[in-house]
Amino acid sequence: MIAPEALFRSSAGADIVLVVAATASFIVTIDGPAGTGKSTVAHRLAKRLGLEFLDTGAMYRAAALEALVRGIDPADGEAVAQLVREIEIRFDWRRDPPELLVDGRAVGERIRTPQVTTAVSAVASNPRVRAAMVVSQRKIAAAHRRLVTEGRDQGSVVFADADVRIYLDARPEIRARRRVEQLRSKGIETTEAEVLAQILARDRMDSSRRDGPLVCPDGADVVDTSDIHIDEVIDRLEEIVRRRAGVALVESRDAAQAATARTAERPRRDPNEKRA
Ligand code: DC
Repeated sequence: MIAPEALFRSSAGADIVLVVAATASFIVTIDGPAGTGKSTVAHRLAKRLGLEFLDTGAMYRAAALEALVRGIDPADGEAVAQLVREIEIRFDWRRDPPELLVDGRAVGERIRTPQVTTAVSAVASNPRVRAAMVVSQRKIAAAHRRLVTEGRDQGSVVFADADVRIYLDARPEIRARRRVEQLRSKGIETTEAEVLAQILARDRMDSSRRDGPLVCPDGADVVDTSDIHIDEVIDRLEEIVRRRAGVALVESRDAAQAATARTAERPRRDPNEKRA
């Protein structure tokens, strides 16, 4: 793995692009519970850094949706494992964010309904489903080598040697409030108390399952998003990426490339080295 050597801020000042050697892989993982703003943050960080974006929760949701469509009980481990072997879950990378396809058909917002949200916990705690998803996610990363990937186990299991590992957190009441607002914007009425109970139940399931539980990865940078605006969250994450990857922000692409060339012979960090 080759770390990036410089960041380039475009002349408009809006985007920052990681300048990475053509052969390099660069992975930023973002894990954390639901309602921390992970998906939006990961997508915006990826755009800012010129990386691709992988939403792994969408993959588990697609499996849960397909189980419901076929009348399979999400808790029937054997049947769901068989289903996941049969269907093809992949992304159309020409879309931004990449669009999830099941057997070639876009699933769209159908993976975000309350029914799917309820069914997905059982699907995600199925060890055979998880094993299949881990294989798919690593294959995706082999083809899309500069990636911000978000989920629950990305920095702890799937990409334990990622260049940068981040854990996003927020207080449960804040997460519940955000979720209620999100549902309201889709015309779904619910109460904060009800959503809070669901969030706490899901947290318990996500963190207590045997395979790939929600944990803060070793040495990850933790950012609590409870009291900060999303723009500031992105700024902090960009700062973390720069610090962790040991890269400088420079003002021109030429300077970035020169910095990359200068450090090309520098010994690389051992990916297994324990980080502070
Ligand atoms: O982030 P989300 O709400 O879209 O995730 C949907 C479900 O999938 C949620 O129950 C957690 C689970 N999940 C997981 O177990 N591992 C991942 N890498 C991503 C999501």
